Amino acid sequence: MNVMAGARNCLGALQHFGYCLCMQQFGENLGRLDRPLIFGPLSLPGRAFLAPMSGVTDLGMRRVAARFGAGLVVSEMVAANFYIAADEETRLRAEGEGLPIHVVQIAGREPASLADAARLAEASGAHAIDINMGCPARRVVGGYAGSALMREPELAVALARAAIAAVRVPVSVKMRLGWDADSVNAPELARRLEEEGVALITVHGRTRSQFYKGRADWAAIRAVREAISIPLVANGDCAGPDDARAMLTAAGADAVMVGRAAIGQPWLVGRIAAELAGAAALEPADAAKVDAALEHYATLLSTFGVEQGVRHARKHLAAYADRAAETGGGLPATLRARLVTTDDPDEAAGLLARCFARAPDMAA
Ligand SMILES: Cc1cc2nc3c(=O)[nH]c(=O)nc-3n(C[C@H](O)[C@H](O)[C@H](O)COP(=O)(O)O)c2cc1C
Repeated sequence: MNVMAGARNCLGALQHFGYCLCMQQFGENLGRLDRPLIFGPLSLPGRAFLAPMSGVTDLGMRRVAARFGAGLVVSEMVAANFYIAADEETRLRAEGEGLPIHVVQIAGREPASLADAARLAEASGAHAIDINMGCPARRVVGGYAGSALMREPELAVALARAAIAAVRVPVSVKMRLGWDADSVNAPELARRLEEEGVALITVHGRTRSQFYKGRADWAAIRAVREAISIPLVANGDCAGPDDARAMLTAAGADAVMVGRAAIGQPWLVGRIAAELAGAAALEPADAAKVDAALEHYATLLSTFGVEQGVRHARKHLAAYADRAAETGGGLPATLRARLVTTDDPDEAAGLLARCFARAPDMAA
């Protein structure tokens, strides 16, 4: 046997070993995590998605996450009535230029406006529409949208029906387990939404009354798995590849969605996707992180304009600096303070570039 053939056999044996490990680890997910996930006509390249987060998942963050291999990125929630009224800030939230797969998340409680908003998103280039049935915020629930819809399953189904009838792109729904512990109805609602033609469902493993308290209950999502056969995405408290594997096993889900853990490190989502697919995904090099953070910053300035973009960027700059500090970089306190207050984009970009250096110059 020549050296190459020997190496191939050896690799084959190792792959088989890895495959067996996968088998024990993922149970029914075996063998499909390295395949694209099918969402309507879309083929999603990875099994870890970036969660929609209002005020956070702007176009810049979504572009970076997608470039590093996130299987899907979802826009910040847009209110249907603001979006169709051509509100400029809402339009910017729904912007998706340059994304390989662009999903607009819409919140509303009027089927006709939701349908109009879905049509507008499709006409503006969205490849899919996501309906928000999970937001716990009082301003959204007070308008009886978001997770309030879980208490009105007839209306929830009517909204999905209206959106599906309005567009040719696939429609997904993001929900919680239920309104509270006494009304966990995600399995039944998901089943009805699948009947209507919803193509993918994400479940955050908390009830509305939990807001963000306690730990997400990944095992409770499994009842949804048993109720539907369309792709199921598990969400809540996924901080890395180990959590992702545990979530998939507990929930029987097809993919995971990552929210807060991706703030300040949008590349994490792609790293999780790669590891789920069986690749040993390493943390990006510091230089790649700098490039990513600068790309995010530049996108904010070009999307929002310099004045508004600089303001919008502050929370991200702080998050990048804090993540960098976790891995041996970061900035001295005075420079971190400068980073998040400066109105000068060049200064901010320079400080951002220093964040990920392993041995920062501690002189302020
Ligand atoms: C700041 C913030 C904003 C959010 N905005 C939205 C939103 O616009 N739409 C939505 O469906 N969920 C929203 N969520 C919920 C997240 O998508 C996700 O379900 C939740 O944070 C749990 O996931 P995680 O533990 O990975 O963060 C938001 C969460 C946060 C922290």
